[in-house]
Amino acid sequence: MTTQRTATLSVEGKTAELPVVSGTVGPDVIDIRSLYAKTGMFTFDPGFMSTAACKSAITYIDGDKGELLYRGYPIEQLAVNCDFLEVAYLIKNGELPNKTEYDEFTTRVKRHTMVHEQLSRFFQGFRRDAHPMAVLVGVVGALSAFYHDSLDINNPEHRMISGIRLIAKLPTIVAMTYKYGIGQPFMYPRNDLSYTANFMYMMFGTPCEKYEPNPVLVRALDRILILHADHEQNASTSTVRLAGSSGANPFACISSGIACLWGPAHGGANEACLNMLEQIGDVSHVNEYIKRAKDKNDSFKLMGFGHRVYKNFDPRAKLMQQTCQEVLGELGLENDRLFKLAIALEKIALEDDYFVSKKLYPNVDFYSGIVQRALGIPTQLFTGIFALARTVGWMAQWTEMIADPEQKIGRPRQLFTGAQTRDVVPLGQR
Ligand code: ACO
Repeated sequence: MTTQRTATLSVEGKTAELPVVSGTVGPDVIDIRSLYAKTGMFTFDPGFMSTAACKSAITYIDGDKGELLYRGYPIEQLAVNCDFLEVAYLIKNGELPNKTEYDEFTTRVKRHTMVHEQLSRFFQGFRRDAHPMAVLVGVVGALSAFYHDSLDINNPEHRMISGIRLIAKLPTIVAMTYKYGIGQPFMYPRNDLSYTANFMYMMFGTPCEKYEPNPVLVRALDRILILHADHEQNASTSTVRLAGSSGANPFACISSGIACLWGPAHGGANEACLNMLEQIGDVSHVNEYIKRAKDKNDSFKLMGFGHRVYKNFDPRAKLMQQTCQEVLGELGLENDRLFKLAIALEKIALEDDYFVSKKLYPNVDFYSGIVQRALGIPTQLFTGIFALARTVGWMAQWTEMIADPEQKIGRPRQLFTGAQTRDVVPLGQR
């Protein structure tokens, strides 16, 4: 990084020379860390519209070009050439694994797929009809009560083991959440299967009969996991980093990330999108809903459309659209009602001035919900699958932050708009 260039900011007679810093690719940043000391002023940027909150070498997005790179590799290449654990290794370690490294990594992950037996009893405390994300926030947070032996965040070995534990156990926990909700027995992991095939086995297998996951469907789910594995400093990742900046343990941090992901403007969008398609119900109602989405006085939005960063197209959406067709073809569901409705909605929105001028394109969630539904995953669990995949990115980002010597506790400031100092009048005199 170079810091020779500066930006000059003058305000009310005070001048601050601020270093301009370049990364390897992407916009330069103005380093404003000394701004308050030099001018007595803060910057104001709710929603982080112009603020880089950290340095990171993991994921790069060019929203205008519709480009997503994990450690420099385009998502389009990773999605067709690699499986999820290869991508997880890459995101975590910075390089793609060779065969030996891959075998060691997958063996290591598989050795941690079981959860502490007592954790299964922890589930009994939840109502059967609880939302899976509510259960996941609780159970993942509770992992810190089960794995004390890897909680020292200053110990690189502990950080590594916690990371492996989280990546390995999330599929087991997500599947247990599903099984608990439908009243079926928990299935122990099968380590002879791939990461994703084992997840499908734990979801859809029962002790009563043999279940062999369909390889086409396994590949589709694996692709969903790859596409959701990381997305630089999005809301949930920033939540994980902020929680971790205080020194909180990784299980607690990932639990906070899951809580943030749940929101419909973020990971909850795929569930919201499917619910929206159900609400629209039929191709004949599409125009009415497009009209509502455009109406400023109506809170209805086209879920699965728009993105804070991608203002051209979401590269993950393209891959997911293709996967959607493969899955529906494999299952003979090409005439699926919701898929047809989704296609009609997409076509009309892509031609509509409102959506075109605001650069609102389908995002990954628009299609991933349809694929997951076809795989037999209940709508309420969609965001849980997203959390499973994103755990890889969250852990890599958390580890990067902890290892960064410049890391400080995250402590934003504010523009105070409340009452100025005033005196308390005792209760009887008010
Ligand atoms: N339907 C209708 N109008 C929309 C939509 C939408 N889906 N998304 C944005 N707009 C409009 C806004 O009303 C706003 O209009 P205005 O300029 O007249 O005020 C304009 O487009 C800009 O939108 P913002 O909300 O300011 O854009 P922002 O970058 O803050 O939000 C977001 C992006 C949250 C994704 C938004 O587009 C949205 O809510 N989409 C639907 C939810 C969704 O699909 N989320 C998934 C994100 S991807 C992911 O998390 C994996």
